[in-house]
Amino acid sequence: MRAQTDHPINDLLAQRWSPYVYADRAVPEVDLKSLFEAARWAPSSYNEQPWAYIVARKEDTAEFERLLSCLVEANQQWAKHVPVLALGLARLAFQKNNKPNRHAFHDLGLASASLCVEATVRGLVVHQMAGIEPQRAREVFNIPEGWEAAIGIAIGYEGAPATGEESLRQRDAARRPRKPAKEFVFGGSFGKTVPWL
Ligand SMILES: Cc1cc2nc3c(=O)[nH]c(=O)nc-3n(C[C@H](O)[C@H](O)[C@H](O)COP(=O)(O)O)c2cc1C
Repeated sequence: MRAQTDHPINDLLAQRWSPYVYADRAVPEVDLKSLFEAARWAPSSYNEQPWAYIVARKEDTAEFERLLSCLVEANQQWAKHVPVLALGLARLAFQKNNKPNRHAFHDLGLASASLCVEATVRGLVVHQMAGIEPQRAREVFNIPEGWEAAIGIAIGYEGAPATGEESLRQRDAARRPRKPAKEFVFGGSFGKTVPWL
């Protein structure tokens, strides 16, 4: 569902949204390659690139089930219909000196945001999930110490609303509320709105 923006933004950003109803359609390899290539070229603190993704396609049934089992039940309900699932992982310490990387989650977010934009270009939709079981993911996928599963990612094609379960359809039809920019863009001191907004 397209964003109703207060000011003009690029069409790709306005088109991006996180639906619950997906089409039963596989994502071509060529597109998947480009999604992770887009993530690869995201900026990161000290160019550490502290991200990793574990990806499972629905046609690889066993792999897909293992990844699905790392989502919380509420997310499994809708994510079982998507053609591609992924986990986004962050490396929490710098490789060169093992000191904490305070920006690891931020940089994973940037990589995933690039992935979202590339997906939109290709007519795909991405729905991210905080609702995962990180400890289970660690066991299932042998995630080493120092790395943390931070996010689940569903990738696929938007489904026709009529094809979705009623509860999922209702969620897709709900409004997408946003705070006005005045509530988060400040100047001079925290909480002080800039005059040009
Ligand atoms: C970090 C993150 C965690 C999220 N976790 C979940 C989740 O566990 N389950 C879910 O259904 N949606 C989840 N979402 C989707 C958000 O609810 C959604 O992005 C938000 O409502 C804004 O809607 P939009 O993406 O369509 O603009 C998550 C999104 C992000 C970025």
